[in-house]
Amino acid sequence: MREETIRISQEELQRQRDFARQVRCHPDRPKSYYIVTYGCQMNAHDSEKLAGMLEEMGLEPAAERTAADFVLHNTCCIRDNAERKALGNVTWLKEVKKERPDMLIGVCGCMIQQQEMAQKLLKQYPFIDVAFGTGNLYRLPEYLWQAVSNHERVIRVENEASTLAEGLPIHRESDIKAYITVMYGCNNFCSYCIVPYVRGRERSRRADDIVREADELVKSGVKEIMLIGQNVNSYGLDSDEGVSFAQLLHRVSQTGIERIRFMTSHPKDLSDALIDEMAHNPAVAPHLHLPVQAGSNRILQAMNRRYTREQYLEKVQKLRAAIPHIGLTTDLIVAFPGETEAEFEDTLSLVEQVRYDSAYTFIYSPRKGTRAAEMPGRIAPDVASARIERLIALQEKITGEVLASMRGEIVQALVEGVSRRRENQLTGKTGRNINVNFNGAPDDIGKMVRVRITGAGSNTLRGEKVEE
Ligand code: 5AD
Ligand code: SF4
Repeated sequence: MREETIRISQEELQRQRDFARQVRCHPDRPKSYYIVTYGCQMNAHDSEKLAGMLEEMGLEPAAERTAADFVLHNTCCIRDNAERKALGNVTWLKEVKKERPDMLIGVCGCMIQQQEMAQKLLKQYPFIDVAFGTGNLYRLPEYLWQAVSNHERVIRVENEASTLAEGLPIHRESDIKAYITVMYGCNNFCSYCIVPYVRGRERSRRADDIVREADELVKSGVKEIMLIGQNVNSYGLDSDEGVSFAQLLHRVSQTGIERIRFMTSHPKDLSDALIDEMAHNPAVAPHLHLPVQAGSNRILQAMNRRYTREQYLEKVQKLRAAIPHIGLTTDLIVAFPGETEAEFEDTLSLVEQVRYDSAYTFIYSPRKGTRAAEMPGRIAPDVASARIERLIALQEKITGEVLASMRGEIVQALVEGVSRRRENQLTGKTGRNINVNFNGAPDDIGKMVRVRITGAGSNTLRGEKVEE
């Protein structure tokens, strides 16, 4: 694996734009595209860049994947089921391609960046036309050009994950909310996690590039920006700019953006300066996603998380003291190798103690090449399922109680659209990132409005608009 950051040069990006122009002028080019995205926000945002590049090549979005000339799967490999789902869908498309032989099938993203994947695709998936990893995403124009002009399979899995490409075109999914990547990659090597292997080393974008992007978004009418990275709290540590994540957050808020969120935060890197910025900057949403993973110190150590249960709880206490209305969410893994019943119960008790707004819960999934995959003490699937069910039931109870306790509060909601359930209802997101439904007219869509909470369902709030 290459360690150093490779900044993609302007000449190289111009070369890619030239390929894009050549594809656009080629009579046999695909005319429409459909991107199937798996996984996290980083992937969702990469798909916006892929869409931007495809549109630069003259392709238009297709309404459904079976109608598209080019179907690109942007994959995830964080757990075995994510990988199986992607490969299952790609294989299903093989049948569609039999009817439409001109269809091009592409696969990219984290799954492709894994060791030996290129060999596997070449041998077992002959119907895949284009494949590339996360590090060479910016080369899509070149790959599509090769596929279109030479009618060849383009399987380009290069061992270079740590690239940083500025200025790619972006087709954004929403004009109300937008992602900005602040850093790529991860250096933490949690023992269960494949991300550092497939996304490369931590590399931060320049603060000026980020602020410029935020500024343009504000000018275009965007109301909420989410700063994303695998571990945003270590923003800047790999560069000599001397801008910390707390300072970056401050600078982005000076663009006049109405609301800023960020994810994901590693508890070990959550600084007092960041807590302070969150507490005093009204643009920063009162929400923090702070994955804890487990409640037992022995398991946390085996996971290489580099904090103890006590240190985590101390951070939670500091956050709540500084920002009394903060909503916390988390990620939890059950059935890590060797996890005893008592250690699992430590996770339950931690969840009870913190009282998260919500949690993503996962059964541990061994990933080839990670340290945990070699650890003894695999937990039987029925035990793992029983544990996750207990954990989910506990978190559902807490979510219900937390939401019910919000009755009577007045919150700021960013109105995202019409409710799926009822026509005259709008749906918005509170600062704590909870959905709230309330009566209203479509001209409020895209605005920040004040809503009084009148009730709660299992994971949404009900409310009424407070007229100014
Ligand atoms: N098995 C189960 N869950 C995992 N996660 C990461 N790797 C694994 C794995 N091998 C979870 C963690 C992480 C989230 C994005 O996915 O909880 O925070
Ligand atoms: Fe994976 Fe840990 Fe990095 Fe998160 S911090 S991406 S869990 S290695």
